[in-house]
This record gives sequence, structure tokens and C-alpha cells, in this order.
Amino acid sequence: MTHNKNILCIGAGYVGGPTMAMIAHQCPEYRITVVDINARRIDQWNSDTLPIYEPGLEELIRATRGKNLFFSTDIAGGIRENDMIFVSVNTPTKSFGEGAGMAADLQFWEATARQILQYSESPKIVIEKSTLPVKTALAMERILNGTGNDVRFDVLSNPEFMAEGSAIQDLKQPDRVLVGSRENERGLVARRALVDIYLHWVPADKIITSNIWSSELSKLVSNAFLAQRISSINAISALCEATEANVDEVARAVGMDSRIGSKFLRASVGFGGSCFKKDILNLVYLCRNYGLDTVADYWEGVIRINDDQMARFTRTMLKAMFNTLAGKKICLLGFAFKANTGDTRESPAIYIAKNLMAEKAVVVISDPQALRNAAVDLQDAQGQVSYIEDPYAAAAGCHAIAVMTEWDLYRKLDFEKIYKIMLKPAFIFDGRNILDHQRCFDIGFNVYPIGSPPLTRF
Ligand code: UDX
Ligand code: ADP
Repeated sequence: MTHNKNILCIGAGYVGGPTMAMIAHQCPEYRITVVDINARRIDQWNSDTLPIYEPGLEELIRATRGKNLFFSTDIAGGIRENDMIFVSVNTPTKSFGEGAGMAADLQFWEATARQILQYSESPKIVIEKSTLPVKTALAMERILNGTGNDVRFDVLSNPEFMAEGSAIQDLKQPDRVLVGSRENERGLVARRALVDIYLHWVPADKIITSNIWSSELSKLVSNAFLAQRISSINAISALCEATEANVDEVARAVGMDSRIGSKFLRASVGFGGSCFKKDILNLVYLCRNYGLDTVADYWEGVIRINDDQMARFTRTMLKAMFNTLAGKKICLLGFAFKANTGDTRESPAIYIAKNLMAEKAVVVISDPQALRNAAVDLQDAQGQVSYIEDPYAAAAGCHAIAVMTEWDLYRKLDFEKIYKIMLKPAFIFDGRNILDHQRCFDIGFNVYPIGSPPLTRF
């Protein structure tokens, strides 16, 4: 079959893979190729065991792979043969030099820009999908158009707003699609070409356009606002614990104000994921760069509260368990940074596990999807940690359970059975407030929720 548009995506990760699968599914007349420097990742995309877990993804891949969706390591060929190139390579926080721990590490992104320049023989529309600091598109334009070679490049910003665990649903019915471009004639033509792709399945009124810098900044700001809501409710959870108010009741009352809204007000052990911390640090770095220190301090506070929430959680465990965790066996239910994903990047569970091990506790980790990643995250902790998928087997012989991820299966566990196989006094620390606390208390547990008084027997 001949395809009437050839699209390339560089970077076959959590963003590139699902996004391209959705475009391939919605636009059967287009040919989509996804390339990556990581050959193992590409092999996994071409196998029955995909490199990431995402509900609905397997079905999408099965319906499109080999028809109009292809995974390959041939980056040069991909660049030559395609006229639209999405860039979704990773942009982690810099760990060295100027801006270490704050600024985005743009080395993968710039390497990609240079590869595009090297292999292009015809005009290309280059689309930033990775989250990048504001004005990165300008640098991309400079690299691509600054060499005097005849090929013309138009750079667009099209940030991805999907969340892991609901990526396929978010891609299918996005709240909005944002396309930023230069506002000159060429920019508007390129913008139109990208909008045409989304019009295959997204209603026109949900596709918004802006100048390129607004688009880049909107992505950082969306994530900063979302994280800020979580830090706001988590800060209040600390106050609730001190005053015997109940954070879920407060969140409900506050969230029913339609100006505030009820979403993203679930108090927790802390937010994780590859985006929130990285994007806020990026925003903070940008503000400092422009001399806006008060603004930078304000946003940095969102991260400070999150760090404090995680530290508070382990402090609560330590205090509740008679100020010593040495030699005690603690089961972490969940290791993914949220439910319905195997992703553990920046997961609070990493921090909690390390804190508990620093107190010489023995940690047993259970998770239906994230054990492979957990073992990589905790590879330095051999001996003090074990991995058991079955939650009952994981809890057996433990002094305490700490819920780290809001997997549905944990709500439905038989806690009477678990109580019987644990050491007494048995503790539950519910870092996601998903369990029936009163019932667990009635069974015999000492229960420590987030943001409400503990239910204890002493
Ligand atoms: C986020 C944004 O939601 C998404 O738009 C963007 O494209 C990428 O970053 P993601 O990190 O995948 O998505 O998941 P999200 O659902 O936002 O959750 C992030 C973290 O916040 C998780 O650890 C989650 O458990 C936590 N969270 C979320 C809370 O603690 N409380 C809440 O009320 C909501
Ligand atoms: P995200 O969550 O943003 O999708 P991931 O880390 O899951 O981030 O995916 C980014 C992907 O980009 C990785 O698979 C990585 O191997 C790939 N990548 C990084 N640099 C390049 C490059 N220069 N060319 C091709 N792929 C790259």
C-alpha cells in the first residue's frame, strides 16, 4: 500500500511509542516509523513483550504494527525518507556542570538535531514533542537552518500532555492539542500540516495554536500547576494530622467549589514520575536565569513540600514502630510512581525504600508491573531487599505494610488473611489513602493514613 504521508518519530519511549501508535491507528493512510538508538528497545517494540506497560497499548500496536507502524534502528534512513519528524528523546535533569540538578540536559536532543541536519536531503517539518525549556526551538532552528545547506526546516512545538497509566485514553480524547509555530507564512503552513494529522480524530475546537514560546512554556506550566495542587493538599495533610482534621473531607469540601475543582487533590506520600520534578526544576532554572528569584523560590516550594512529605512518611513509620526499624521487615505494596504503569522514575517508593534501608530495615517489594524497574532502582541495596509479586507472600512475616501505589488490587486484598501471617503488633501505613482504615483497625492493625489521625491500640 502506498501511504500519502511519511512520518518519523525519533525516540521510542513512553511518549514516542504510544503517541505514534495512536497516530498510526487513526490515520491508516500515513506510514509511521519510530526509531531509537537503543536497539534492545526497538526489538522489544517489535516483540510480544513491549518495553512499557500501558493499558490498551498492546491492542493498538497489534492493530498497526507491520501495516503502517514500523519500529527500526535506522535513524539515518528514517530521516531521509520522512518529511515530518517528531522528536521525543529524553531530556533528563542535568547531573553535571552549570545548572546541575536543575537545568534540562539537552545533549540527546542536540545530538538528534545534528543527525536530522546530517541526513536530510529534502525539506522537513521538525516537531518538538519532548518537554524542553522555553526557546529550545530557537536553538533547534539555529542548528538546522544555520549551515547554509539548501534544505529548509520548520520547527514546531507540540507538547504531549498525556499521563502514564491513562496514556491511550488521553491520546484518544485529549483535553486539548497544542501546536506552537512561528507566525510567518512558512510557520503557518507547517502548523496546518500538523493540525491536519490531529483533525483525523480530535475535534477542531480542542486543537489550539499559539506562538512557539507560549507552547513550550505551557507544557512546563501545566505540569507545575498540577504538581502544585498535590503539594498544596499534601501540605494540608500535615496540618490535618496535627489537628485531627481529615484531609479527604477537606479536599472534598474545597474541591466542590467549581472555581477550584475536585481533581488532583488526592493527598499522598508524594508525587513522582519523570515530569513533575524535572519540569518544575526547569521552570525554576529559567526564572533564576531571568533574575526572577522570588518567582523561582515560589515554584521551588512545590518540590520542597514534596520532599518533606516523603520524609514525613518515613518519620511517621519510625515513630510509630517504637523508634527503631533495625532488622524489621517492611512490605512496600507498590513501587510504580502511580497505578497502571510499570514506570518507577522518581517514584516516592524509591525514596521511602532507601530511607527504610538506611534505618536498617529489611524491605520486601511487591508490584504487579514494576518489579523489573524496582530491581534496577535498588541495585545497590542487595541483601536488604527482596521482590515478591504476590502481595500475600510479600506481607508474610512482616512487621508493617506501606502502600506506595494506588493499584486497584490492593483495595481488594483479604486483610484478615494478611493480618494472620504478619508479626504483631502489625502496622499499615497507607501512603495513598486507598484502604478501608476502620476495617483494617477492626481486624487488629495499627493504621496510619495520610492526613488523618492514626487508628492505634496504644
Ligand atoms: C503528568 C501530567 O499529568 C501529564 O499531563 C504530563 O504530560 C506528564 O506528567 P504523569 O506524571 O504520567 O503525568 O502522571 P500524573 O497522573 O500526573 O501523576 C503524577 C504523580 O502525582 C503520581 O505520582 C501520582 O500518584 C501523583 N498524584 C496525582 C497525587 O499524589 N495526587 C493526585 O491527586 C494526583
Ligand atoms: P519519554 O518519557 O520522554 O518518552 P524515554 O526515556 O521513555 O522518555 O524515551 C526516550 C527515548 O529516546 C529512549 O528510548 C532513548 O533511547 C531515545 N533516544 C535518546 N537519544 C536519542 C537519539 N539521539 N536518537 C534516537 N533515540 C534517542
